[in-house]
Amino acid sequence: MSTLAINGGTPVFGDKKMMDLIPQWPPRYPETEEKLLEVYRSGAWGGCKTYEQKLMSEFAAFQDARYSVWMVNGTVTLECALLALGIGPGDEVIVPGVSWIATAEAPLYVGATPVIVDIDPETLCIDPARIEEAITPRTRAIIPVHLFSAVADMERIMAVAKKYNLAVIEDCAHAHGAKQHGKGVGSIGDAGSFSFQLSKLMTAGEGGCCTTNSEELCDKLFRVSHIGNSRLFPKEPLKEGFICHQYRFTEFQAVVIYDQLQHESELRAKRIAGMKLLNTLLKDTPGIIQQQSAFADDVRAYYFPTFLLKDNCLKPGVTRADIYAALNAEGVLFHEGWGAPLYSFPAWNVPAKDFIKKETPVCDDVMYNKVLITHNALLLSDEEIISKTAEALDKVMKFYTV
Ligand SMILES: Cc1ncc(COP(=O)(O)O)c(C=O)c1O
Repeated sequence: MSTLAINGGTPVFGDKKMMDLIPQWPPRYPETEEKLLEVYRSGAWGGCKTYEQKLMSEFAAFQDARYSVWMVNGTVTLECALLALGIGPGDEVIVPGVSWIATAEAPLYVGATPVIVDIDPETLCIDPARIEEAITPRTRAIIPVHLFSAVADMERIMAVAKKYNLAVIEDCAHAHGAKQHGKGVGSIGDAGSFSFQLSKLMTAGEGGCCTTNSEELCDKLFRVSHIGNSRLFPKEPLKEGFICHQYRFTEFQAVVIYDQLQHESELRAKRIAGMKLLNTLLKDTPGIIQQQSAFADDVRAYYFPTFLLKDNCLKPGVTRADIYAALNAEGVLFHEGWGAPLYSFPAWNVPAKDFIKKETPVCDDVMYNKVLITHNALLLSDEEIISKTAEALDKVMKFYTV
């Protein structure tokens, strides 16, 4: 099917594109340039210096956790959290079928088996009922992901974890600043794992950290990512056989993230207001529903604002690809996220014997037929840009729905 604008309609942004009109990503601050120069001139480029130490306490407090340990990215943070929790060969770790592959590859790095389960159709986060069905005597941990712009149901996940004595590592790569029942994500499970890769809500190009409330786990996380060195109990010898990695962070990354932390609450408030406006403008738009967070009062970070096409809402023969094409013709960017459940990514080249995949009809339906994802910087834009984006979505959905 051809698209509205191509059919002779006027694209909402004229000859411009939404991506050229929204604020540039990532945000840049003049004070960061000065600090970067200061760090460069000081020669104190690594070794857990001023800004990394500030981040260790201030980012932890920002997420309501007691400790944070900084590493090179948000993949090794998952690996280190598993190692620090004593998870290894013979163990099973339950993960959702929709995430970046790092969530499911981390168990493999420590010799454990990822067990991939289905997601909830409204939050798109791991379905607690599917977790319970997947538990075996070998299950040791769960890695829920606070996906796109929702927070997983930590109340039910923690209840299952308690019942079966499982560790919980929250994958918070998409959820800087998000909260559930007043608690920052990454402070609810045993450990949290954050990514600061380029697309993320806070970024230094690359970077990662683990959060935790346990001093003992913090020490283990530090040791396992700092080739065995300890910050907390320097005199205590390393347990024999606890082989550690060298995943240290740099002061350049720390400075960039430190300054973003000072602006994060203000940017998140803006994203929340932008999302509220978008939802108000779309309240009568047929065929779409916003991705829900587990609880109505969750504080959402709004990384990848996500909508879902409702069941059977499109005219016969119309697919999600037609919706994308029509939106693109309007100059508006919506996309399919990673385009597939994680076990179907080309980069997921794990032999079938090394992982367990449960039935995942919701993962497949959502990723192949339903999600419509836009850029978080849209929510930081002027009202006019948000209104025009809503106008395009409304126009396209009215044209293509029954
Ligand atoms: C849900 C999730 N977990 C983990 C990661 C891994 O983070 P990194 O790219 O910093 O290694 C990502 C990155 O996209 C992610 O989206």
